[in-house]
Amino acid sequence: MILLGIETSCDETAAAVLVDGAVRSNVIYSQIAKHAPYGGVVPEIASRDHVKKLPGIIEEALHEAACSFKQLDGIAVTYGPGLASSLLIGYSAARALSRRIDIPLTGVHHHEGHIYSVFLGENPPVLEGSFPMLVLLVSGGDTKLVYVTEPGSYTIIGQTIDDAAGEALDKGATLLGLGYPGGPVIQRTAEGGNPQAVRFPRGLDNAGGDWKYAIDRQFCFSFSGLKTSLLYYVRKHPEWMDNERAGRDLAASYQEAVTDALIIRVGRALKQYTCASFACAGGVSLNKVLREKLGRLSATTGIPLHLSAPRLCTDNAAMIAGAAYIKLSRGYPYTIPEDVHPTLQLEDWRQNNGV
Ligand code: KG4
Repeated sequence: MILLGIETSCDETAAAVLVDGAVRSNVIYSQIAKHAPYGGVVPEIASRDHVKKLPGIIEEALHEAACSFKQLDGIAVTYGPGLASSLLIGYSAARALSRRIDIPLTGVHHHEGHIYSVFLGENPPVLEGSFPMLVLLVSGGDTKLVYVTEPGSYTIIGQTIDDAAGEALDKGATLLGLGYPGGPVIQRTAEGGNPQAVRFPRGLDNAGGDWKYAIDRQFCFSFSGLKTSLLYYVRKHPEWMDNERAGRDLAASYQEAVTDALIIRVGRALKQYTCASFACAGGVSLNKVLREKLGRLSATTGIPLHLSAPRLCTDNAAMIAGAAYIKLSRGYPYTIPEDVHPTLQLEDWRQNNGV
């Protein structure tokens, strides 16, 4: 099965070709430089850039995979969640292409892409023995714990009640004047710093207070207090600004708090849920400290860990075609979405697609 994947949900324009689930090309154009002056993604700039870049990116993906339009069996496109104006560019292109060359189109939930990215590489994916699987999904806009009983069957057991982990890193870096995106610059600045220098909160530490959500508190995340503590710390200790060593310690302590907050909840979930394996996916899963902590958790629990290859951690189209392949090859139908769905929920997938 040869699939073309298309991804334009935020600020990456991406296309990829997968043959029986093996990645043959994975072309990603990142708009980061265009959004950096604003400290975050500007939707209008993102969608205009997708329009300009997508046709060339699709051609490049086909060329790299030595594949023609005629050889394709289907197209997989992200239809949500994401920025409506960005999603529309990829969705419209995919829909037009599928009609023009008369091949089926299937819609993929962006997070499903991230989840299955951990199985992708040069060879066809091997999933046997991995389910039920706990997934820590940590992208720029989302932080979730997803319990995947089998491909296509998801339960959100934990999620952030405010900022996402990536957002906390991005906002923290802006506060520290380090630039955008925050994850990679904080990681770089933190190198050689003392992660115990400043004790920042790990979120929802206090057991008290009202809990108004239906989801179990012990698996939920909160990063807004962490961001505020950083702000107060920086105001109270302006001296760190002129001191390189103190700057490194501060970045390392902040990174430590974000990664600890994630690991604590993964550890709790692994104790409570039966898991044949666990995984971490999304842009923040590139983080070196987080990867080390996950590795240690796997060693102490004896539960195998799946991590994506670095090029598959941040947004890409290989994961979109990969998710489609994994589902289609298990008998799920092609599902042509009527429109993009900027707030698409993972659990709604079956309902939205009549499965
Ligand atoms: O998954 P992704 O590409 O975007 C969304 O789908 O939202 O993730 C982007 C996020 C940003 O917040 C960025 O700061 C973070 O991933 N990120 C990192 C690292 N590289 C990217 N966070 C921590 N450490 C990194 N090395």
